[in-house]
Amino acid sequence: MSKLKIAVQKSGRLNEESMQILKNIGISIDNGKEQLKASARNFPLEVFYLRNGDIPQYLRDGVVDIAIIGENVLIEKGEDLPIVERLGFSKCKVSIAVPKSSKAKCLRDLEGKRIATSYPNTVNQFLEKNKLTADLHVISGSVEIAPNIGLADAICDIVSSGSTLFKNGLKEIEVLLKSEAVLAVSPKISEENKVLLDTIQFRMRAVLKGQN
Ligand code: PRP
Ligand code: MG
Repeated sequence: MSKLKIAVQKSGRLNEESMQILKNIGISIDNGKEQLKASARNFPLEVFYLRNGDIPQYLRDGVVDIAIIGENVLIEKGEDLPIVERLGFSKCKVSIAVPKSSKAKCLRDLEGKRIATSYPNTVNQFLEKNKLTADLHVISGSVEIAPNIGLADAICDIVSSGSTLFKNGLKEIEVLLKSEAVLAVSPKISEENKVLLDTIQFRMRAVLKGQN
């Protein structure tokens, strides 16, 4: 019998709530967390614990059938991939921020300036739409430190509680997008596994409805 393959974030903000929603829809997973793959006991489902940024490519290649992933990651790396369900958790923004002392009040004021980010495609799209140019420095984490070490005039990163911005003496000046966890699907999913996906979605909707 065919099994549905789902990708979830290995560790980080989405992991816990992703596992919780699977639990809430009645799926119990044998969790040897050090294993990167686990099977459900009571549903034909295999869980793959992966790095966020790798998930879009796994979906595209059909290595996994579905994924619980931040919409912001899809916008950055997987705009071609269909979203079938919005899951309402892990809400965050992708924003531009500058040092508190900066005079810049919006992205327009950053024309020609240096912006450090882990979201180059998202920033570039926004720049193009507004006919602006900037000098992007792509770094993969701890982006908020960039202005303090003289690497950039501004940053673009995820803002959730706002605490990282605050601690680094930065202020948000523009929100590029709002994001939440979503269920995304591989274009290569088989007809057989689509039926399993329908069951998962049906159960998720019931749970999400109950939460509202
Ligand atoms: C993420 C993100 C922001 C921060 C936002 O970083 O890159 O820096 O969380 O959350 P907050 O608004 O609640 O402070 P994370 O801690 O995951 O580490 P990383 O940047 O090194 O990936
Ligand atoms: Mg960070």
